[in-house]
Amino acid sequence: MKAKNCLIFGGSGQIGSNLIRKLAKNNLRVTVVTRNIHQKGLRIKTQANAGFIDIQESKIFDEKKIEKLFSTADYCINLIGILYEKKNGNTFKNIHTVFPTLLAKLCKKHNLKHFVHVSALGINEAVDSKYAISKLKGEKGILSNFSKTTILRPSIVFSNSDNFSTQFMTLLNRLPIFPLYYGGKTKFMPIHCSDLTDVIHHVLQNDIQSQIIECVGPEILSFKEILETLLHLIGKNRILVPMPLVLANLSAKFFQLLPNPLLTEDQLRLLKYDNITSGKYKTNKEIGLPSKLFFKDEVKKYSYMWRDGGQFSTEKYDLND
Ligand SMILES: NC(=O)c1ccc[n+]([C@@H]2O[C@H](COP(=O)([O-])OP(=O)(O)OC[C@H]3O[C@@H](n4cnc5c(N)ncnc54)[C@H](OP(=O)(O)O)[C@@H]3O)[C@@H](O)[C@H]2O)c1
Repeated sequence: MKAKNCLIFGGSGQIGSNLIRKLAKNNLRVTVVTRNIHQKGLRIKTQANAGFIDIQESKIFDEKKIEKLFSTADYCINLIGILYEKKNGNTFKNIHTVFPTLLAKLCKKHNLKHFVHVSALGINEAVDSKYAISKLKGEKGILSNFSKTTILRPSIVFSNSDNFSTQFMTLLNRLPIFPLYYGGKTKFMPIHCSDLTDVIHHVLQNDIQSQIIECVGPEILSFKEILETLLHLIGKNRILVPMPLVLANLSAKFFQLLPNPLLTEDQLRLLKYDNITSGKYKTNKEIGLPSKLFFKDEVKKYSYMWRDGGQFSTEKYDLND
């Protein structure tokens, strides 16, 4: 039987790279769309064996080019997302609302078997965040156009190639004092990237359709607990200071002027809301895939590069024994 073809948008990112490996290993073919094959080609190509992967370069709103790819696809998976807006059309509305709705229309037109869209946890609650509003509108646009869709809403996704644990370990290494927004009390349920891609594969394999599934890790951690865990793992002591909201807003106003801001005003608003299961939707546990990987255990495997001594700081290389 011919292997099914998954058309993936956003496949060069953290979740995408892990997903390509998982799907190809399970005998699915993948076609990955990227905006820049010269920049991302190597990273994408090396995730699967030849014959299982095809890369296509396209602008995401080049409808003619994208539509051609749907004629040979069985499944579509959308992983495209941004954390802050930029000029030239890179707006939350275009990326999180207009584009996913376009994909859903094409899925319907070409009668695809399934569409998996990765959204984000907590978007119903974060009513004053432009990011959350755009994600929510995107979900509505998809569901009203293609009912054979599964929407996944993950909490923070972590792995050795994330922009979260790795970036925080870099910052904690360099800064003597670290700010705690909202007193560091915001709660998260970090899910390991591999646990999340297991869910995506499970959804395709078992044809789970028309559902919103909240995808979370096995534990609830506050922002402060996450920072303390990272500090412990990199063997550093830093002062964690609760930052008054006025100061937090001022710093976000400054940061968002930078090309790759560490924090924006919109992200600050988002941080106000706990990022945990709502109780209104099924979770990965309820569809038979509870997360197996704990934050501390997994980050420990790659955090040694942020410790003094790098590779020689690991237990394996303890030369004093
Ligand atoms: N990581 C998390 O903690 C987390 C948590 C909750 C939800 N999510 C959601 O999960 C999805 C995937 O996350 P991820 O961490 O894998 O993302 P990522 O690493 O940032 O990758 C997303 C991909 O989207 C494409 N992309 C980025 N900006 C774009 C733009 N302006 N126009 C067109 N394409 C663009 C890029 O592909 P090319 O450069 O190859 O075109 C990129 O590889 C996103 O929708 C995100 O919102 C992530």
